[in-house]
Amino acid sequence: MTRHPKTQAGPRTAEDGGTSVVHLTLNGQELLAHPGQTVGAALIDAGIQSWRTTRKNGRPRGLFCGIGICYDCLITVDGAPNQRACLVPVREGMQLSTTAAPVGPATDAPNDGGTER
Ligand code: FES
Repeated sequence: MTRHPKTQAGPRTAEDGGTSVVHLTLNGQELLAHPGQTVGAALIDAGIQSWRTTRKNGRPRGLFCGIGICYDCLITVDGAPNQRACLVPVREGMQLSTTAAPVGPATDAPNDGGTER
């Protein structure tokens, strides 16, 4: 899990202007999100840029395409592995985990746009 060095924003709080928040956890750490956000948007908003690594080379992965095509954003949602964070909307009490291995064959491809799974 990597946080963007410039934001270091951490979780969103109710005091920053939002009157309605959704409570999530990522590996047991509480995060707050806006209703209607996707999981990927909530993680980015919290300053988290990557939440898994590739199996072969351990390269960090997070959002890439943002539209459900590349599968770089896989995450476990409420125990269901390999969910695309860019497509799953946040839900109150959602439990996210970065521990599950992604689906698909590992490749030797370089980081050229999400080809290494
Ligand atoms: S960012 Fe490409 S599938 Fe989610």
